[in-house]
Amino acid sequence: MNLLKPTILALGIAALPAFAQVSVTIDASKPGAVINKNVYGQFAEHLGTGIYEGIWVGPQSKIPNTKGWRNDVVGALKELKVPLVRWPGGCFADEYHWRDGIGARNKRPVKVNTHWGGVAEDNAVGTHEFFDLAEMLGAETYVNGNLGTGTPQEMAEWLEYMTSDTKSTLAEQRRKNGRAKPFKVDYFAVGNEAWGCGGNMKPEYYAGLYNHYATFLKTPPSARPKMIASGGNDNDTKWTEVLSKDAARGTDGISFHYYTLPTGVWEKKGAATAFPESEWMSTMANTLRMEDHIRNNVAILDKNDPQKKLGFYVDEWGTWYDVEEGTNPGFLFQRNTLRDAVVAALNFNIFHAYAERVRMTNIAQMVNVLQAMIITDKDKMLLTPTYHAYKMYIPFQDATSLPSTVSNDKLYTANGKSVPGISASAARGKDGKVYVALVNTNPRETSDVVLNLAGQNVSGVNGQVLTSEAMDAHNTFDKPQAIKPVPYSAKADNGKLLLKVPAKAVMVVAVEA
Ligand code: AHR
Repeated sequence: MNLLKPTILALGIAALPAFAQVSVTIDASKPGAVINKNVYGQFAEHLGTGIYEGIWVGPQSKIPNTKGWRNDVVGALKELKVPLVRWPGGCFADEYHWRDGIGARNKRPVKVNTHWGGVAEDNAVGTHEFFDLAEMLGAETYVNGNLGTGTPQEMAEWLEYMTSDTKSTLAEQRRKNGRAKPFKVDYFAVGNEAWGCGGNMKPEYYAGLYNHYATFLKTPPSARPKMIASGGNDNDTKWTEVLSKDAARGTDGISFHYYTLPTGVWEKKGAATAFPESEWMSTMANTLRMEDHIRNNVAILDKNDPQKKLGFYVDEWGTWYDVEEGTNPGFLFQRNTLRDAVVAALNFNIFHAYAERVRMTNIAQMVNVLQAMIITDKDKMLLTPTYHAYKMYIPFQDATSLPSTVSNDKLYTANGKSVPGISASAARGKDGKVYVALVNTNPRETSDVVLNLAGQNVSGVNGQVLTSEAMDAHNTFDKPQAIKPVPYSAKADNGKLLLKVPAKAVMVVAVEA
């Protein structure tokens, strides 16, 4: 038997004996925290073609648009039910001066985007344009303030400009610029990555600055955004420790960034396509580290904030590969494959498990940059596998998480590393149905999963599955539908419900009673 096993595996035949079937058990009688819809938030930075060309083409463009925002991209994002957009950065935020982006567009100053490609930034997209986009999408707004090169006065005045309903000069200026009623700012962050591009600070120094700036950030009480202190990244928990104790001036949450690199090495991150299985495996292993990061930071929050006032906002996450050859390295353009969809779904399942604290996240980024939902080329647009994963998970927005247990899981092992084969998450959607998401990390083997709903009979499931033959399956402008979800359903047989989760797949199903 032992001698045969490697051969069987090499042939791609399931080697598990029948009694060792993977089982997923959901206990619908023990509802957990609500999964805030903003866990499915997006991020649009002034970076490469992430905004300009990608979404914004300007009102004079031949590409059909509404108020300068292209109709095809906005339409696709509306179908995704984007709940929240973060803007204008990222690193860009700490060099952004909001007054450059208001008033007549042809009179706005042209600056250099020093962080991203050294290209001209004509400030065509500013405060009013951003809120136009958010309102078209029906999305909440997350504005990231400039701590790095701005003053407390500049930041306070931006908030006044956006939120004041008085006759103040700033509110009148907003009205003169075409916006009578205040804008709705839902989240506001004081700086970004203060440990790096935001100013290379120590957490104690930032905490002092945060309190200093936050003192002056005033809005009408009913218009107060959730205030975000910009936190740490990767393994570094010191920022959460310091900020949860010292940056408590009206703070609603602490942010955190973690990117998934196949190699884990910034200088040679790994390719987006045509990668070996060893990099599929390392990508899975590295992205699953998100759970360790969240667990470690949440433990600190539980100690310093037992009333759970603070959210843990993962406001940048996703895959980061070597840039596509022939593109501007400062534009962070990368292709998006089935691997990205699997990464997204694994992270969603982790966020659901920590829904009590993880109340908002923003994948980097929405269009054309890093792990994008949409890729454009002039007037063409395509939807990526990550887009499809987000769409499949829509029922989890504002759903109530339910405990799910995976038993008899068969690890996926390659190149001396192992990760769980099946990742599962369940929730009761706003429509009352129980939804189950299953991710098979193994790129070679189908997983037979027995689904149990504790104490209840189930007759079957209906939903969708996303997979493909190749690990790097992706859509192109020639073949924009090369990879997309297909319907999936299964019926219980003698009270047993068996789901066949294909290799390297994301599956989301509604359970039928
Ligand atoms: O998302 C790209 C960049 O990554 C952001 O601007 C920055 O905050 C992070 O380092």
